[in-house]
Amino acid sequence: MPRGQAVYVLGLIVLLAFASVEFLFFIGLMSWQGREESIVSGKQKVDVDIRPWSAGDLPLLERLMGGPTMTEHLGGPQTPEKLRERHERYLCRTDKGYMFVIVVGPERIAAGSIGYLEKEWQGQQVRETGWSVLPEFQGQGVATRATAAVVERARAEGKHRLIHAFPSVENGPSNAICQKAGFMLQGEADFKYPPGHFMRCNNWRLDLFGNASETPLPEPTKRAILS
Ligand SMILES: CC(C)(COP(=O)(O)OP(=O)(O)OC[C@H]1O[C@@H](n2cnc3c(N)ncnc32)[C@H](O)[C@@H]1OP(=O)(O)O)[C@@H](O)C(=O)NCCC(=O)NCCS
Repeated sequence: MPRGQAVYVLGLIVLLAFASVEFLFFIGLMSWQGREESIVSGKQKVDVDIRPWSAGDLPLLERLMGGPTMTEHLGGPQTPEKLRERHERYLCRTDKGYMFVIVVGPERIAAGSIGYLEKEWQGQQVRETGWSVLPEFQGQGVATRATAAVVERARAEGKHRLIHAFPSVENGPSNAICQKAGFMLQGEADFKYPPGHFMRCNNWRLDLFGNASETPLPEPTKRAILS
């Protein structure tokens, strides 16, 4: 092959190799950006629903209430025996209370628990709600949307006017959920929980029939309680 032609072919090969590397780099960059975008927007995208507690949900309860991290603001981990008793209570559907599994995504993966009970509070029958979300599903708005679903359910039931939540004053995420779900802060209250210990809690309340009777705390008092 003449020398000029050889140089031309070699140049062409180098050019093609360079173009391939560029192309592969571009494809890699695009797929990485796409992945980052789907993670970021995942916060808004995950579907959240609730379904009744069922016989196969004991392992979920063990993860939610059997260890120290998840129960930091709930009086500490429960023994296997207490967990089984709780599971049995959750299965009994009476009009005194309902327990649900929070499910996410199209495959309806179990991500947590939420429910409401009947409670006597200051001489009145009210509903009390509470929630837990597994660590891998936290920080995506799952508990907030499950709370909205439970509030809707309690409202549709039409049995009680008021629904309360009593998160520990130290439970930042739970207090944020109450605020985002439209509950109004009424003040603080002490609960004996677990037996023998007092837990300082915020008293959040939502009027299921409207909010005409609500008297929200003045902003400075509310800020002082939540700070
Ligand atoms: C509390 C818990 C259910 C939150 O679940 P989650 O699905 O992560 O909650 P969400 O994502 O819907 O909302 C949490 C909110 O709290 C905010 N938050 C997180 N840490 C916070 C803190 N230290 N202080 C204030 N707000 C905080 C988040 O920013 C988020 O608000 P945003 O969506 O406006 O950003 C979950 O942490 C949990 O299961 N904890 C252990 C069990 C428990 O304590 N249950 C509460 C019993 S009342």
